[in-house]
Amino acid sequence: MIKVQVDLRRSYDVMIGQGLLEALGEKVRTLLPDAEKAVLVTDDNVAALYQDIALQSLHHERFETKTFSIAPGEMSKNSDQYISLLNALAKEKVTRTDVIIALGGGVVGDLAGFAAATYLRGIAYIQVPTTLLAMVDSSVGGKTAIDLPSGKNLAGAFYQPHLVLCDIAALHTLPEHVLNEGYAEIIKYGMLSSRDILEQLLQPSSKVDIASLIADCVTIKRDIVREDELDTGKRQLLNLGHTIGHAIERLSGYGISHGFAISIGMAIMTRAAVIKAACPPECLEVLSRLLAHYKLPDRTEFSAEALFSAALNDKKRAGSMITDVIPVALGETRLKKMPIESLQGWIETGWLS
Ligand code: GLY
Repeated sequence: MIKVQVDLRRSYDVMIGQGLLEALGEKVRTLLPDAEKAVLVTDDNVAALYQDIALQSLHHERFETKTFSIAPGEMSKNSDQYISLLNALAKEKVTRTDVIIALGGGVVGDLAGFAAATYLRGIAYIQVPTTLLAMVDSSVGGKTAIDLPSGKNLAGAFYQPHLVLCDIAALHTLPEHVLNEGYAEIIKYGMLSSRDILEQLLQPSSKVDIASLIADCVTIKRDIVREDELDTGKRQLLNLGHTIGHAIERLSGYGISHGFAISIGMAIMTRAAVIKAACPPECLEVLSRLLAHYKLPDRTEFSAEALFSAALNDKKRAGSMITDVIPVALGETRLKKMPIESLQGWIETGWLS
């Protein structure tokens, strides 16, 4: 088992290995000896596979359990589900010494985390990500949120979990396209700051040590978030491809998933960066090879104009300015604060080329 310690306003471990789901009860009991109730938040697909294992492990440690399961998919990350979850917590008389456990992908983690951040002004929560994307990104760093009709993640809180348990056995049951969404985020980490990750990804998949790759990504994220927990500066680097990606997700009514949308976003920004001579063509060559290797898209049918218009609601916008992430070399990116109209130029350039 690999352990990465994340030391922020709250310090916690990210544990990565096999069999951690079976050890859930024991790990939670060690952290929270006085907790009586554990509320498992999950989705219907994940529940069918892993709910029984999780509950058995929690019962073994004398937790009284309650399950709240949502329909899978981004459409469930909404204010109705959030209020239903808060009401369920209140109805079960969950107290401040109890715990919420998010068992699932990014949607479950974001929703459960936001409920944990706000119910009784904050109770403990544990992330048990079951997708690769959630293991390498959304379960770590304390961003919790729901979507509003005008955009993704527009209501939320920074609220760190007490523990993150990544059981890599869960990756075996993921459909290929869901697994590949996780690789999109791993490619992002490589493009951001690690040639080593890019090289590992170019190897045949049988040679990739997924646990250490996850640990590498979590360590990069930990180091960035440590410098900027509240996302006012350096943390925005983690948004490579995300301004366009979130626009694509929203324009598609969340029919195009996050990993696919950010792949297109990274490709558009990298193509534009090459044309504007902000980065060498090598960046685009490697990115294109990796996206093709993991069957990830690099183009969209939404027009550049539609993408720009949807991006205007992005939460990274500050008045008439927006900060976006630009690749500058292989494994290196910079933040670029630009007038919102310049973003239109970047999108058009990357879309057309
Ligand atoms: N997923 C980007 C961040 O956590 O800041």
